[in-house]
Amino acid sequence: MPHTNQRKDLFDKWAGTYDADLRGEEAFPFLGYDAVLQSFVKRAEIQPAHRVLDVGIGTGNLASRLNIPDEQIWGLDFSSAMLEKAQLAHPGAHLVQADLTREGWLEKLDSRFDRILSSYTFHEFPDAVKVEILKKMASYWLKEGGLIIIGDISFQNLADYHSAQERFAAWWDGDEYYWCAEALSDVLCQAGFSMYYEQVSACAGIYQLTWKGC
Ligand SMILES: C[S@@+](CC[C@H](N)C(=O)[O-])C[C@H]1O[C@@H](n2cnc3c(N)ncnc32)[C@H](O)[C@@H]1O
Repeated sequence: MPHTNQRKDLFDKWAGTYDADLRGEEAFPFLGYDAVLQSFVKRAEIQPAHRVLDVGIGTGNLASRLNIPDEQIWGLDFSSAMLEKAQLAHPGAHLVQADLTREGWLEKLDSRFDRILSSYTFHEFPDAVKVEILKKMASYWLKEGGLIIIGDISFQNLADYHSAQERFAAWWDGDEYYWCAEALSDVLCQAGFSMYYEQVSACAGIYQLTWKGC
């Protein structure tokens, strides 16, 4: 993924205004952002003693909705500016800087989690990379019986994907890899996951993944 340095620079620059930019946002690709995070937290069914990892934690918006002490929250991100914001919002959280497209990210955490969560981050990666990252996370970091929940720019099937591509043509980013649940369900199943998908807004949905191993 050669453009990863540019993406990191982009997120470093965006960190300062990210929260203000998204407040009440009702345009693609963040249409329904608040509702998506709300449904996400419901789907995650976090229990008071859970240890949770937020992948692509950004400024900590998802973590802020989890209703557990900071000490039970781990966050991963490649942007130091985003991590600074997340640390201010969650002083007790355990934050690590890592690039999911570079060697060595898996070794940055030596812990298992009840929930591995990620919002609006995996569309950075092509589908094959998404699945590889998910497999590694599940086998190294997920506790038995744990859940991976992904909320992201996503569509139920290819027909919805293509009609959204037309409807949101002015904002559609050809360098990003939006999800299509129907197209990914077999691949995820072959990779050892069982998947439940819920479309939440016109352009975002939530994946609940359980890991059956290889
Ligand atoms: C659109 S923001 C989402 C932030 C937050 N999860 C939210 O819902 O508001 C995407 C986040 O993923 C991080 N990110 C993107 N690509 C990454 C990569 N290759 N490795 C680690 N973090 C990455 C960015 O720095 C950014 O904080």
